[in-house]
Amino acid sequence: MQIVILKDSAAVAAYGANIFIKQLQKRSHSVLGLATGSTPVSLYQQLIEATKAGNISFSNATTFNLDEYLGLAGTHPQSYRYFMKQQLFDHIDIDQTNTHVPPGDAANPIAACQGYEQQIEAAGGIDIQLLGIGRNGHIGFNEPSSGLMSRTRVKTLTKATIDDNARFFEADEYQPHLSITMGIGTIMDAKKVVLLATGANKAEAIKATVEGPLTAACPASALQMHKDVVLVIDEAAAASLS
Ligand code: F6R
Repeated sequence: MQIVILKDSAAVAAYGANIFIKQLQKRSHSVLGLATGSTPVSLYQQLIEATKAGNISFSNATTFNLDEYLGLAGTHPQSYRYFMKQQLFDHIDIDQTNTHVPPGDAANPIAACQGYEQQIEAAGGIDIQLLGIGRNGHIGFNEPSSGLMSRTRVKTLTKATIDDNARFFEADEYQPHLSITMGIGTIMDAKKVVLLATGANKAEAIKATVEGPLTAACPASALQMHKDVVLVIDEAAAASLS
């Protein structure tokens, strides 16, 4: 596990973006695993700028997002598909048919989960998977107690995650309590993993990820077993490391 500690969130985004820029420059047909949430937004901004500057192209790239709310169609403003369109896909030269987000409106979600695994496999596997981390150590929507070998499946969100994500919803707006998420085993199959974390509220999760035991109580601790993982974190998120 490589740990890069940088001054602030701007430096974390720049470092993370550079990893993706180099990957695309090396292999234009890359398969990229993407995340939503607040943490990757400025990284995506830098990928948009690099595309507009002609430094990278997504025209041959394929993407797979980690997760989606179950019950929301991709056109719903709170869906992760919508988020990705707003934050990245609509501003780069990617063929949107090569962007994959678990289908939150699937008629048969269990079959859709298997289908998502098959799509990843058919694409040749994920070259680099971008991750954020929840305060409770979740990656994707793999909440504490998730199986460390789990695959893409329907997952109930914990109260901690529902509370954390309430900031994105209006007070009277429906907030889903279920998701479709890549499993921890799915994430572990990525050839490289880049986890970003910023802010003091991630410090305990980062400590458990890096220094804690390998345990389903902190899903991100499974990354200790990955052969090519880099944690890019700011000083606030690193503050509890010994
Ligand atoms: C998002 C995801 C989540 C987030 C995590 C951190 O696709 O899978 O695991 O990465 O909840 O979210 P932020 O970045 O909003 O703190």
